[in-house]
Amino acid sequence: EGHITVLGIETSCDETAAAVVTDGRQVRSSVVASQTELHRKYGGVVPEIASRAHIENIYPVIAEAMSQAEVGKDDIDAVAIANQPGLTIALVVGVTAAKTLSFMWGKPLVAINHLHAHLQSALLNEERIDLPAVALVVSGGHTSLYDCESPLDLTLLGSTIDDAAGEAFDKVATILKLPYPGGPSIEKLARTGDAKAIRFPRSMLGRDSLDFSFSGLKTAVLYHCRGQDMKGADRVDEMDEREIADIAASFQAAVIDVLVRKTKRAAGRIGARTVLLGGGVAANGTLREAMEAMCRRHRPPLRLLVAPKQYCTDNAVMVASLAYHKIKAGLLADLTLEPSSTG
Ligand code: KG4
Ligand code: ZN
Repeated sequence: EGHITVLGIETSCDETAAAVVTDGRQVRSSVVASQTELHRKYGGVVPEIASRAHIENIYPVIAEAMSQAEVGKDDIDAVAIANQPGLTIALVVGVTAAKTLSFMWGKPLVAINHLHAHLQSALLNEERIDLPAVALVVSGGHTSLYDCESPLDLTLLGSTIDDAAGEAFDKVATILKLPYPGGPSIEKLARTGDAKAIRFPRSMLGRDSLDFSFSGLKTAVLYHCRGQDMKGADRVDEMDEREIADIAASFQAAVIDVLVRKTKRAAGRIGARTVLLGGGVAANGTLREAMEAMCRRHRPPLRLLVAPKQYCTDNAVMVASLAYHKIKAGLLADLTLEPSSTG
């Protein structure tokens, strides 16, 4: 005995997710209801639509996760919810569901930071890691670098001052008229393009900065397609696939270059031995390879731990897994818990 089984719930953006995980590692079920189709025609996540879809999906998704794991309420030791950061009216749906279950079942409630959970995905299969670690979360809403002393002890070193990395992928995909969501579309097309075709700017924000800025890069892509004064015609319709692929590959290379160089800079700063990488953009194969190459060349070499691809984008396994460590540390929430857009 002594096992801890957690029901994790995630509703911070456009994915309604629930998972049952035992002892932080044994994934018993993982259910994700994606709303991609609902938001496609808007080219981005519409909060009001996301919230309503969460309300529709939340109980079926939880029921499915429990059924797939073959557990009932008596097998659940705690309910974990990502309550920050995210879209408040999306978060509130999961927070209310988790509080209700915790109250009705008489089980402890655990509050989880969504970004910290993304990093937990990189630790799912690890017994122990060499510390300190530099941790990079690259998602649709955030680009954040942390000094990681333990899965529960993260200090923010830097973050984006404008667009997040995933947001840049999504916006550039819209400029290039590629299918939503943009990240996977750009990665796919970039494979056939020349990453050196166009030298897009790499914004490093000064010698010592660990912050990020991607809006200038997005604007550079826009100028490339419309002319410097933005008065020129939108050339994208006239471009052949080869030219669009070159833009996609060159843009992707610029983003990855900045992400890798900043991670290297942070690693040097804190004397890191390990790099953790998580979040939706971490599903990008070219980023994974570039980060791996940097870690291999680094002196002393760094160990790279990346989230498995299916746990890079939003899911509830990462929530239930991190909750295990919080329970072990006695860090429980109560029924006054509220969602928070920041975090
Ligand atoms: O972590 P996530 O699922 O949601 C947030 O917490 O934001 O990340 C979604 C973001 C989107 O911007 C999406 O375009 C991006 O991750 N993304 C990718 C890839 N797959 C998803 N970006 C680049 N390459 C990919 N393969
Ligand atoms: Zn996320």
